[in-house]
Amino acid sequence: MSNFKVRKAVIPAAGLGTRFLPATKAIPKEMIPVLDVPMIQHIVEEAVRSGVEDVILVTARHKEAIENHFDFNFELEETLDQKNKKDLAEISRSIGRLCNVISVRQKNPLGLGHAVLCAAPIVGNEPFAVLLGDDLIDAEVPCTQQLIDIYSQEGASVVGMMEVPLNEVSKYGIVAGTAVRPRLLEVSHLVEKPSPDSAPSCYAIPGRYVLSPRIFECLRRTQPGKNGEIQLTDGLQILAQCERLLAYQFEGTRYDTGDRLGLIDATLAFALKRPELATGVRELLRKHLRGG
Ligand code: UTP
Repeated sequence: MSNFKVRKAVIPAAGLGTRFLPATKAIPKEMIPVLDVPMIQHIVEEAVRSGVEDVILVTARHKEAIENHFDFNFELEETLDQKNKKDLAEISRSIGRLCNVISVRQKNPLGLGHAVLCAAPIVGNEPFAVLLGDDLIDAEVPCTQQLIDIYSQEGASVVGMMEVPLNEVSKYGIVAGTAVRPRLLEVSHLVEKPSPDSAPSCYAIPGRYVLSPRIFECLRRTQPGKNGEIQLTDGLQILAQCERLLAYQFEGTRYDTGDRLGLIDATLAFALKRPELATGVRELLRKHLRGG
């Protein structure tokens, strides 16, 4: 499988987004913006910058807004053209041109592993990337590209990994294994959301994967685990017993935009990088910290 091109990416976005209620009562969590760009657009752009051609969105009822966002909006774009707002019309059209978007329904939110399995008929028998719809990674070389590079060098499935404090291990899938070289582990053991006293390490897998299609067979054998859901982490544990599975400590900053503080963190970081916003945001922060 060495040098096999990764052309497809699966983006699971069928969850209920309960941590953002009431905002997510009628709007998909993944459409909540980080500044003026919906979080899922950041994710799709990462996949496209990593060479992905087909994006497979795993969605659910009431999530049509995500599909519409990656389509053209003739009414809006024509109206903007007529008003001579060509640059705004181009912003809208450029999202429609980003990539092929194929969507598949997860009829019940049975877990992340189950969501990935829903994409099996479209992925077929080739390696593919998985990017979680609410995990944002800001990196010079896109995180998915970093994992694709490892996949083609090593000829093995690879998950993105980052070190977290011991008191945070219960928020993540955690991996352990033997070092291949700096930043790279051969995975022997994975566990979903362990307690700090049972965690095998402090290496978390936040939401980027490049996987061989054998994962589908493993997910079909995966029993419901943590929270009664079919967990991708448990499917990966089965995969690690069948073939080599690696974990790569990617370069970049990760934001959990599925969490309110994580979203604020990402919004501030992105705003401070925008020349037209940075000064204003600094002033606002100073004002709020002064309490006035
Ligand atoms: P999360 O657990 O963060 O998402 O899953 P959630 O369930 O939507 O959010 P909360 O906890 O209720 O607030 C990570 C990603 O996996 C997708 C979610 O849409 C999210 O992007 N997911 C999760 C599915 O597609 N299907 C599922 O059954 C579960």
